[in-house]
Amino acid sequence: MSETKHSSLPGVPLSREAANGITRRDFLNEITQGALGIAGLGSVAVTYQFFSPNVLFGNPDLYPVHSVTFLQDQQVYIVRMLEGFYAVSAVCTHLGCITQWKPDADMIACPCHGSKFKADGTKMEGPAPRPLPHFAISLTADGELLVDKLQNIKPGQVLKV
Ligand code: FES
Repeated sequence: MSETKHSSLPGVPLSREAANGITRRDFLNEITQGALGIAGLGSVAVTYQFFSPNVLFGNPDLYPVHSVTFLQDQQVYIVRMLEGFYAVSAVCTHLGCITQWKPDADMIACPCHGSKFKADGTKMEGPAPRPLPHFAISLTADGELLVDKLQNIKPGQVLKV
């Protein structure tokens, strides 16, 4: 701003930026607005991914038989047993903490108040009022695992691959 004031004074030369029609302040404003725009688009993309009910989890061969895979960004466990696949919510049914798979103890544990669940979501102990819900899981036409986090299904239903 001081540069533009100087430019109106007789005998005071314009700064190089002012002489080119853009001031340092204008330049920094443009950079700031661009950075905020990029950050905003990134936030929208992450939010959409988080709340999107249908999530692709890749090729079934990525998951070994007898494995529990925690997908933190989707808060879902993909469980592969000999019989097939199922998807279990990682959100504790007590107060919504994110549970953790404990492979050494072969169970899912909640760090907040101590609820414990089997890999199939069945409650073993603790204050959680319900088992961990199962989500609908299917294969796309391309052969990728697809989980619908808006559609709960009864435990025991597996996707045979
Ligand atoms: S939130 Fe999991 S036991 Fe309380």
